[in-house]
Amino acid sequence: MPELEKSSRGTWNTKLGFILAAAGSAVGLGNIWGFPTQVADNGGAAFILIYLVCCLVVGFPVMIAEFTIGRRTQKNPVGAFKALGKGFLAPLIGYWGVLCGVMILSFYLVISGWTLGYVLEEVFYFFGHESIASTLGDLGHGLKNAVFSVIFMLLTVLIITGGVSQGIERATKALMPILLILLIALIVYIFTLDGSMEGLIMYINPDFSTVDGDLILSALGQAFFSLSLGMGALITYGSYLNKEQNLVESAAYVTLTDVGIAFIAGLLVIPAMFVAQYGGTEIFNPETGALHSSVTLVFDVLPELFHQIGGVLGMIIGITFFILLGLAALTSSISLLEVPVSYVIDEFNVRRKKAAWGVGSLVAIIAIIISFDISLIDYFVYIFNEIGLPLGGLMICLFLGYFWKAENALLEIEQGFEGVESHWFAKVWTFFIRYICPVLIGLVLITTIYNIIS
Ligand code: PHE
Repeated sequence: MPELEKSSRGTWNTKLGFILAAAGSAVGLGNIWGFPTQVADNGGAAFILIYLVCCLVVGFPVMIAEFTIGRRTQKNPVGAFKALGKGFLAPLIGYWGVLCGVMILSFYLVISGWTLGYVLEEVFYFFGHESIASTLGDLGHGLKNAVFSVIFMLLTVLIITGGVSQGIERATKALMPILLILLIALIVYIFTLDGSMEGLIMYINPDFSTVDGDLILSALGQAFFSLSLGMGALITYGSYLNKEQNLVESAAYVTLTDVGIAFIAGLLVIPAMFVAQYGGTEIFNPETGALHSSVTLVFDVLPELFHQIGGVLGMIIGITFFILLGLAALTSSISLLEVPVSYVIDEFNVRRKKAAWGVGSLVAIIAIIISFDISLIDYFVYIFNEIGLPLGGLMICLFLGYFWKAENALLEIEQGFEGVESHWFAKVWTFFIRYICPVLIGLVLITTIYNIIS
């Protein structure tokens, strides 16, 4: 039995384990299909630079805030805000997080299920069963989507029922290095193929003419989703921390890992798209000149590339890629499910196993509904990602900056980061949490809402 898992809530076993689990939460579908598509769509390296600024200027301070609230209260997001704030308003931030967790996970499962479908699709394609392969690769096939998203849910629940250190920490510690190795192996291979250099040039060559308000807003939105911020996933992960962990340093590692893996994923996906184009696959819409949508990009263009490569090699590369995407999604779906599960465990005194199966079943039902009508994904993304997460982040900043107060948060950060109150970091972070982050997030929200209305 791990020594630290004394309390019934559980704790991380090692410092590295926590950082890998939080990084596992951050690195997911958002990095491997979301980020590369946005880059290609938004002027290559210009988007990367702006995204980097968003992660550092908004994401990093908010991540520190989430870790701090979690570790201070040792509670789920609802319990955490109840403990720190008075009245009925503060827990609403937590309830909103739990709701976003449930809803985001529901469609996340459907997309994650596609990765499982494509692993099998590659196998059936290789053995010449093209009609079975195309059913497995049919993104709109309701029954198939439902089966695979439920399988993905089962995997997520099984890990969660294992507990914090024996389940989540052990799984992410094993999965994250595999993910990185697979990514790098695929990049090395892709660069041996014709067309990859053209992709690389587009990726690293900034085109600042495309930079406008919208681009900055989508970079900020992408940063929020990719860093798992705004719904209390990292409050929950922070609540399993002991007081020795340096929260600022941990947040820095997680932010850098997430940004780094997104960059590396771009090095794979964008050159791979151009290799596919070289082989005759259409990647840009001939009428608008715009890149095909993100769902089509990874799930349609890349399998065509793998089939172009052909033979055992094509199958192995295809399977490797979709396993990679599935693993990245799994370490994120764990953290999405952990938010409502920890809420049920803490607030209703329910055992972990029961809570995980109960919440998991509820989410699976919503996922099954989405499976039969994937156009619902767009609505869910709009409400719970594009509005939900920044709204949550804004409320977290305002709550910490003006109600709980940054001085109190700094007292918590002090544990594990001695002398932080007199360090320049304290002043800068307080200023960001009180002014810079709320203003920037507020702008994103207002623009998003304005765009929806008009
Ligand atoms: N960060 C995850 C990704 O990039 C998604 C996620 C969002 C996970 C919010 C937890 C909370 O895919």
